[in-house]
Amino acid sequence: MAHQIRITPSILNADFSNLGSEIERVSATSDLVHLDVMDDIFVPNFTFDFAQASEIISVSQLPVDAHLMVANVDLIAPKYAEVGCASVTIHAEATANIRSTLKAIRSNGARASLALKPNTLLDPYLEFFDDLDMLLIMTVEPGFGGQKFMTNQLPKIAHARKEIGAKAIWLQVDGGISLETIESAALAGADTFVAGSAVFNSEDPAQMVTILREKAQLAIS
Ligand code: DX5
Ligand code: ZN
Repeated sequence: MAHQIRITPSILNADFSNLGSEIERVSATSDLVHLDVMDDIFVPNFTFDFAQASEIISVSQLPVDAHLMVANVDLIAPKYAEVGCASVTIHAEATANIRSTLKAIRSNGARASLALKPNTLLDPYLEFFDDLDMLLIMTVEPGFGGQKFMTNQLPKIAHARKEIGAKAIWLQVDGGISLETIESAALAGADTFVAGSAVFNSEDPAQMVTILREKAQLAIS
């Protein structure tokens, strides 16, 4: 089970007034930066609108992994690909046409990704795997950083890993990933880890990314 491990720090818990330099703090050790876009409709919190997000994407030193927690995501998602995101994640619960939106993200040059909230079952979405570059299993209810990792999502992660098999789909987890939880998520089969508060509340965010990566790698070696 030697998957490549990726760490994608979330800037939700970073200093919003200075995001360019916050991203710089982790750029030497991270694979991508995770950008949580919230609209106060799909989730009860607001982070950025498209114009603000585009600004961050244009200054980011790291490739951007956009996690769109917005209602009616179908029209806006390909635009995030157009402005340069490396990966664009839509929520299964927020799209009216999963397949065409995933295809539109890809044809605009980004990796296409689908996210499932904790209460959303995986099986109805297996049919979309051919159009996916990444699957995101949420390990908290989306909306806020700093929540507790939901261990009841571990069987879903393991099930997803089994279904992915030899397909080139990254398996991402998001929510409550820390030094205490990353091993269990890696053991269940996750290979791409979002970490917000664990990274940005630490003394040395870049080093924390390295330590998280080592823990995950060790768990699967
Ligand atoms: C939650 C966001 C997460 C969050 C992770 O809705 O999608 O990306 O920022 O933060 P932590 O790692 O603190 O749970
Ligand atoms: Zn996220």
